[in-house]
Amino acid sequence: MTSPALTATAAIVLAAGLGTRMKSALPKVMHKVAGRPLVNHVLVTLAGQDIAPVVVVIGPEMDQLAKAVAPHPTAIQHDRRGTAHAVQQAEGALKDFSGDIVVVYGDTPFIGGETIARMRAARAGGKKPAVVVLGFTPDDPGGYGRLVTSPDGLERIVEAKDATPAERAITLCNSGIMLVEAKALWQLLAQVTPNNAKNEFYLTDIVALARKAGMACAVVEGDEDELLGINSRVELAEAEAIYQRRRRKQAMENGATLTAPDTVYFSADTKVGKDVEIGPFTVFGPGVTVDDNAVIKGFCHIEGAHIAGGAIVGPYARLRPGADIGADAHVGNFVEVKNASLENGAKVNHLTYIGDARVGAKANIGAGTITANYDGFNKSRTDIGAGASIGSNSVLVAPVKIGDGAMTGAGAVVRKDVPADGLALNSSRQETREGFAAKYRQMKQDKKK
Ligand code: UD1
Ligand code: MG
Repeated sequence: MTSPALTATAAIVLAAGLGTRMKSALPKVMHKVAGRPLVNHVLVTLAGQDIAPVVVVIGPEMDQLAKAVAPHPTAIQHDRRGTAHAVQQAEGALKDFSGDIVVVYGDTPFIGGETIARMRAARAGGKKPAVVVLGFTPDDPGGYGRLVTSPDGLERIVEAKDATPAERAITLCNSGIMLVEAKALWQLLAQVTPNNAKNEFYLTDIVALARKAGMACAVVEGDEDELLGINSRVELAEAEAIYQRRRRKQAMENGATLTAPDTVYFSADTKVGKDVEIGPFTVFGPGVTVDDNAVIKGFCHIEGAHIAGGAIVGPYARLRPGADIGADAHVGNFVEVKNASLENGAKVNHLTYIGDARVGAKANIGAGTITANYDGFNKSRTDIGAGASIGSNSVLVAPVKIGDGAMTGAGAVVRKDVPADGLALNSSRQETREGFAAKYRQMKQDKKK
């Protein structure tokens, strides 16, 4: 929570860019890092700072993007006429808002909440600057805007393309993120003109305009890491790598053991408790919660699942959406679980598909068991009672119910309910021919000669 002394703050997220370098039909900011669209990373960070309302500026024909950011309102920028023009598109939605407005980019997903908090603190302190710009010192200042400072603070921002050689030598750069008092923002934007190399309306010009009007401006510095902008799929992959490194570290700092952290992939929303063990080559898709003391052996793929404490999963297990693995339950190698709950202490250890099912407490599912949940038209449920014992290679043809403590024989095809403590088997008598195998081998060998 932010302290009540801080000014109420709204946000404008610039996301109208086409992202042509992504070579994609999808708007750039909808590409994902850790399973979450770039723009949603920013929205989550803003929400964490109690920043509201948030208006997202999008391009025309970006309905998918409008849906991805809902319930946040969007404003459409029909012609891309520069960052100042983009911000102005949100004026209608925010004209009654009094407080501060932070402008962020939808393609800069890692901006930290703590950094925005420092910008807000800077707005409240010192000369009460009307504009606070987030600056940084990148390894390569390249095409970034340069921050021209004086003992009074920030004087102006000059775009690389418009800069003199002396200005281009400045290493303190504009991240693009700015915090501005709302009324001042609209007034300053109205004065911006496109007299520059790109013939665009630059948001950066509001700094010099503010100074001219006698307002103070200030710089807060951020890390290059959190200001990484994404323009191509290569940069997207680099961002993914940075994010994963951070998440692995966080999971370990929170008390999980990762034996080979570089091979574990988290989603942005993965929740991992304390004293959890995660083996190598495990991938977490969206929507996973792992409670304290669970063990995930290596080579697992897990999404939309809950794993309770004391459960052991893997190696080589696949948990799909709706898998709920109870306390002390075991899911072993080459087992797939979908939309099914394994109650406490249930064991499904080998080569099995459990879909649309309940497996009661301490039930044991033999190797190769299949819940046949789909008849080509409908999905049906299998209900396995507590303490049941399912023989190896059983096919449980849903809908079907196996009572508490019931058993099925190896290879059983179970189409009818089995009462509690009952046994289901499809008996076909075994024929045994003594000495047959030896005779058979002899016959084959004789033929070879
Ligand atoms: C901008 C800054 C520059 C800063 C850099 C940081 C200006 C004039 N320059 O430059 O000082 O160092 O970001 O990355 O602001 N956008 C729209 N509509 C537009 C134009 C841009 O929505 O009409 C969005 C883009 O999608 C992008 C962001 O605004 O998310 C920045 O635009 P971009 O064209 O990348 O600005 P830069 O030239 O990089
Ligand atoms: Mg840019």
